[in-house]
Amino acid sequence: MSRRSNVFNFAAGPATLPPEVLERAKASLADWQGLGYSLLEAPFTGDEFKALMDTTRHQIKAVLAVPDHYQVVFLQGGASAQFSLVPLNLLPPTATAGYVETGHWSARALEEGRRYGRSLVVASARGSGFDRVPAVCEWALDEDLHYCHITPNETANGVQFPGDPDCGDIPLIADMTSEFLSRPVDIERYGMIYAGTQKNLGPTGLVIAIIREDLLGQARPETPTVFNYQQQIERQNRINTPLMFGIYLVHLMLDWIEKQGGVEALHFRNITQSQAIYRIIDEDDFFYCPVIPGHRSIMNVCFGTRDKSHQQRFLAEAETMGLMNLAGHSHTGGLRASLYNAQSDAAVAALASFMISFRKHHG
Ligand SMILES: Cc1ncc(COP(=O)(O)O)c(C=O)c1O
Repeated sequence: MSRRSNVFNFAAGPATLPPEVLERAKASLADWQGLGYSLLEAPFTGDEFKALMDTTRHQIKAVLAVPDHYQVVFLQGGASAQFSLVPLNLLPPTATAGYVETGHWSARALEEGRRYGRSLVVASARGSGFDRVPAVCEWALDEDLHYCHITPNETANGVQFPGDPDCGDIPLIADMTSEFLSRPVDIERYGMIYAGTQKNLGPTGLVIAIIREDLLGQARPETPTVFNYQQQIERQNRINTPLMFGIYLVHLMLDWIEKQGGVEALHFRNITQSQAIYRIIDEDDFFYCPVIPGHRSIMNVCFGTRDKSHQQRFLAEAETMGLMNLAGHSHTGGLRASLYNAQSDAAVAALASFMISFRKHHG
């Protein structure tokens, strides 16, 4: 596949994918598994696709060491749909959910959750401009909370939890959209993890959820059948037509992740790459990062130029160097370099050298 080798994509999602994954995906469009037709034309009820779903579920369980009492399910509607589907499936109408507010996406989850039941902010970093994750010991974890929702990596704010929080017996529900499969996770700390796959795994619209079995079976009667976690699990994700091509892309990405050495190896690479950029930001006063050290994201490096008039010029000059999509989220502004799993060391080196040269010329 020809792709300009001098273009580096730092988009926050959909995001860059490994060329070899795109190559394999392309081959499936001509003839999938020797069927004589493309995956896009294959029946979802066929043995081939059923085997693909089983394999992909198995790969997710293996790469994250998911214990047997958790189920993996593929859902549709993107991660935002889960902001409603989590309460519909897991929160009885009279129960209370807790939310930790750490930035744009957790605030969106909270706003939507409020439409379905009592939703309390148990901790918030709004007061300090979302520059950190409130320490777990400061969370107002009332024992009556039915669950507590977190967003471990805030894509728009560049804030990331320093580890997997321990909430004791309160089930922790995590929107891991922008960090899924980028690091090892202590799954047993969570009641449910969900992630839109358009960051580290490729396709938009598809959500992977990992759910502890004892939380299933509480869906409200009005929950649409296709969005009922338990029913989709029981019927092996075939209540309706699954996002077949998306699931295939996830399978290819999981093959690729395995070849890279698994999530441990990727985590090490993600730390190394992000440190290379944070080091330049911290070197002097030209750039700044709004997040305190220790809580900075290794997936989405959010930063800015102290002199705001430099920002547009930075983006324009970066583009001429092939460094694309470095603008920050529309709600937060500034600059952002997304360094998901498929981001290459060459891209990070090119960005680092551009930042140094930009600072030299405009500082
Ligand atoms: C952490 C997080 N949650 C949710 C979403 C929304 O995802 P979707 O567009 O799939 O609904 C995003 C999108 O960037 C995100 O980063």
